[in-house]
Amino acid sequence: MEEKNVIKMLNKTDKVLLSNLENKEMFSNEIELKSGLDRITVINSARKLFSLSLVSIESITGTTLRLTSLGQKYLKEGLPEYRVFNFVRRNETVEYKQLFSSVPMEKDELNAAIGVLKRLLAISVDNGRITANAGKSAEIDERNAVLQSVEKGQKTDYAGTEDLIRRGIIEQVDEIREKISITPAGIKVLKDAGFNAEYIDKLSASNIKNWEGLNFREYSAKPEILNSLSGKINIKTKFISLIKDAMLSMGFSEMHSNYIESTFWNFDVMMFRQDHPDRDIQDTVYLNGGKGSIPVGILKNVKDVYERGFFSSKYNESIGYRRKFDTSKSDSLIMRGHTTATTFRYIYEFISKNKDKPAKFFSVDKGFRNETMDNTHLLELYQIEGVVYDDNLTVSDLIGYIRQFYGKIGIKKIRLKPTYNPYTEPSLEIQAFSPKLKRWLEVGNSGVFRPETLRPFGISKNIVAWGFGMERMLNLKLGMADIRDLYGAYTDIDLLREMESVRAFSDF
Ligand code: PHE
Repeated sequence: MEEKNVIKMLNKTDKVLLSNLENKEMFSNEIELKSGLDRITVINSARKLFSLSLVSIESITGTTLRLTSLGQKYLKEGLPEYRVFNFVRRNETVEYKQLFSSVPMEKDELNAAIGVLKRLLAISVDNGRITANAGKSAEIDERNAVLQSVEKGQKTDYAGTEDLIRRGIIEQVDEIREKISITPAGIKVLKDAGFNAEYIDKLSASNIKNWEGLNFREYSAKPEILNSLSGKINIKTKFISLIKDAMLSMGFSEMHSNYIESTFWNFDVMMFRQDHPDRDIQDTVYLNGGKGSIPVGILKNVKDVYERGFFSSKYNESIGYRRKFDTSKSDSLIMRGHTTATTFRYIYEFISKNKDKPAKFFSVDKGFRNETMDNTHLLELYQIEGVVYDDNLTVSDLIGYIRQFYGKIGIKKIRLKPTYNPYTEPSLEIQAFSPKLKRWLEVGNSGVFRPETLRPFGISKNIVAWGFGMERMLNLKLGMADIRDLYGAYTDIDLLREMESVRAFSDF
């Protein structure tokens, strides 16, 4: 047969197998190990290559050791003699009776273990007292380690293996291995086809297009999770990623900005009066030195609207605060008090520069407050900020987004209450019922941005927006009463460690 036709008949596993052979011979189990293919696949593929005269196969019979089900049990808990010896070794000498009450084991097993240890001279029994022979420690450890070696298919030359076979812990089984060798025809095909043992690890546009005849590496994922050793994603991180998934699924794009912000973006653009209490050092963390850069044109517009309002046939009642706006403090730096600062940066950078395009943005990021910590307040909190820009948005759209989001998170019992923000009108506070605290908790705040906040950017359509507290939401989800269980010195480490994050959100 022509080489080309032969190559066409080969599928991916045949090629993997063939390229593993590369001028050599190999046992089927070695190929399994090296290629990650399973036994059946290797054998089937070898048979096919044999029928094409590309390899020869020779069956070789031998024996191998395997753990019995009893062996599997001891692999986990240790051989009985190992456990007894360890107990005696730790105490140097113990009463015969004490053993029975201290080592949880069937009576027969325990007696057999003592018999074995006596025979190995690892213990001596005298007048009802058992004493360990420390010199035998290494041997007993080795004896126990044999189970691991057998489980892993490694050779063992431990002399006591026979003994373990006799006790039905290890068994000897026949094993047929196939020795597969490449034939001269195989070598030729291998060469002509241009595939060799080099696997392709990386997918690229061109190798995906011309995948035929290429030798991709096969992957098999077999994660082993040891609870005591494994790390775990912190519940907050996990929750934040679920929240991000929810927002992305609602068609929002993520916003990013910095913890350090100017008072301009944190307060001025949002029409906070310059004597507003939120600006006080009691509430806001001010930084010494440094200056934020702010867009001068927008600052001037903000100053104008602040002082005089603006005229439009739609909003002719906008008269501003009728007092001076002092621009000298606008570039002072603070730890941003809310992520609505980020929202306004995006209103400037994206929305005001693409006024015809609808936009939906979100962020899950930190806000900082100069607060006293208690069971519902933190000094820094994650806020879930959302903002929507589109034609004809109303407060009903806002309520729709809020209900949809909380519904996705699995918090159904919410209610909305009118509230006041300097930058939104109307403004809605979101409350959720905490069965734990037996009261309604404020979990978020929202509204339709006032025209005065959008005028400096030349935006005349409505924008709806919100900020939800992440930690209170998580507290509600987990049925906790105290936000400090999640942060700081009172953190319940055990709870965080044990938390089955996936199970906690099964209704997500
Ligand atoms: N910034 C508000 C807060 O920190 C939340 C909010 C965002 C309110 C957007 C209205 C509009 O609580």
